[in-house]
Amino acid sequence: MTKLKVLEYPNPILKQISQEVDVVDEDLRKFMDDMVETMKHEYGVGLAAVQVGVLKRVIVIENRFDDEDDDDKKQYEILYLVNPKIIKKSDEKCINEEGCLSVPQMRAEVERSASIKIEYLDYFGNKKELETDTFLAVVIQHEMDHLDGVLYIDRISRLRRQMLIKKYEKNIKSKEQK
Ligand code: CO
Repeated sequence: MTKLKVLEYPNPILKQISQEVDVVDEDLRKFMDDMVETMKHEYGVGLAAVQVGVLKRVIVIENRFDDEDDDDKKQYEILYLVNPKIIKKSDEKCINEEGCLSVPQMRAEVERSASIKIEYLDYFGNKKELETDTFLAVVIQHEMDHLDGVLYIDRISRLRRQMLIKKYEKNIKSKEQK
């Protein structure tokens, strides 16, 4: 597996719209394995293909959940979402703090639907459905935005976005000076 380079804001590729995948084959599986490797290396909970410069509608997510029998045991599964589509979303909203590997070191509160139902193709190209009202719903909506060239900072107020970007640019400058 290969660790890929994660593109960072304001790279213009992040604004582009990703294309549907025609067929889930060995090449795509190898790419998804590399995406997982990259996500784990960067300690992310999700990664969209566009974030490594590939304009395909592909997402990987590390879905963490607590073991009900054992508080100390944290479990997780990797979700592979190819061509995901939202087929149902709640009017009820939730607000959560989000971050993004493409906007390092920043966080902001974002409003999203509290629950969603999606359909997608899995790692082997099988058609699947998934309904969730946990934090996973937030992660999926965040990652699906990437496929349409939308970052979470596009979903906050203009004033908060300006403040966040100012701080972000300051961080980049101080990193460059080091
Ligand atoms: Co992101």
